[in-house]
Amino acid sequence: MTSQSIPLQPLLRAATRSDTLDFVLSAISPQFSLKRHMARLLAIREECPGTHTLLLQPGARWGGFIAGQHVGITVDVNGVRYRRTYSLSCSPQYYERYGHITLTIKSVADGRVSPRLAEVLQVGSYLEISAASGEFVWQEDKQVYTERTLMLAAGSGITPIRSLLDELCESRPQQDVVLLVYVRHAGERIFKQWLESLPSQFSHLRLEIRYTDQEGEITPENLLAACPDLSERELFVCGPQGFMDKVRQYTLDHGAQVAQIHQESFGSRPQRVVSSGPATVSFQKSGKSIRSTDGKTLLELAELAGLSPKYGCRSGICHECKCQRGSGSLIHAVTGQPIPDEQQQVQACIVIPDGDVTINSL
Ligand SMILES: Cc1cc2nc3c(=O)[nH]c(=O)nc-3n(C[C@H](O)[C@H](O)[C@H](O)COP(=O)(O)OP(=O)(O)OC[C@H]3O[C@@H](n4cnc5c(N)ncnc54)[C@H](O)[C@@H]3O)c2cc1C
Ligand code: FES
Repeated sequence: MTSQSIPLQPLLRAATRSDTLDFVLSAISPQFSLKRHMARLLAIREECPGTHTLLLQPGARWGGFIAGQHVGITVDVNGVRYRRTYSLSCSPQYYERYGHITLTIKSVADGRVSPRLAEVLQVGSYLEISAASGEFVWQEDKQVYTERTLMLAAGSGITPIRSLLDELCESRPQQDVVLLVYVRHAGERIFKQWLESLPSQFSHLRLEIRYTDQEGEITPENLLAACPDLSERELFVCGPQGFMDKVRQYTLDHGAQVAQIHQESFGSRPQRVVSSGPATVSFQKSGKSIRSTDGKTLLELAELAGLSPKYGCRSGICHECKCQRGSGSLIHAVTGQPIPDEQQQVQACIVIPDGDVTINSL
């Protein structure tokens, strides 16, 4: 069929009808929306100063999750819409039982969203949430390692670990687990009561909580002392990037294989090894453009041009920043490899322009 023969009127009418229907259904209740997943905020609980758990009830169409996955939430702060990514901090069984999920959010000192959430969110209001995604999940196919597990969490990195452990507690409470939790001091301990209850829920769990203000940061020696057989375990690690880099290095040095190590990053600045020449980036949708001279990423350039593109991790993990390239060459900010010309959807946070570029979707 040629473009001339496509019957546009019925398509437009159908689109308008579905928008209108969605508008009407959303007005009855946001959870009836056919186009977005909305979740009702049932409660906000303070875990420790600066960290809050949101108890949410997603609509019936929301597809659930696998332990260890994350969702995107959209919130308005001072009239600006932001989208941020958060790990589920409950088990899928909890969701199946009660129809509720939890997200546990630690304030980032100079962050735009996390320090304001507890004050801007109203119990009873609705938040848009995405479908769950992520690969930080139990690896069922690798029975040899999943029989013994080492989990390491630092700071808010405990959230997906809790989801994984709550799931494990329901399905395999006899599993041999070593859990090492790193927090700055006792006042920053997230999930205090849950941590205290864990040993009674597992028959073979060893839990150590390390206070880095007193005991210092993780070292190869204290890691090995806590878990001498780490090379024979499946490893799950979540925390700040520096912490995860150290754990990875120490465990590889002590005989662990790359395939045994599972990491969830909450985001960090990508280490750029690439610079590029001057380029003009034109953002077609907004009509804005900007000149780049020093290898900034598309995300940074869009922000400098006055746009507010979506982002989550700013480090190539969550895909929240995907945008549509119209024309021009792009290179990966870390590897320096060209992004293939046929690849139209690119992650704005980890690509830099290599010559003039147009971006259609911003
Ligand atoms: C998969 C995944 C799961 C996550 N799960 C959790 C979780 O369970 N709990 C949790 O607390 N957090 C989690 N996060 C982190 C969370 O998504 C947010 O990054 C965090 O809450 C900070 O958001 P913010 O809006 O407060 O900070 P932002 O405003 O996004 O700022 C974050 C940091 O980046 C810096 N920054 C921001 N913009 C720029 C810029 N243009 N140039 C330079 N620096 C800049 C800020 O100064 C600040 O230090 C997760 C992230 C990912 C990717
Ligand atoms: S912001 Fe997460 S991949 Fe770009």
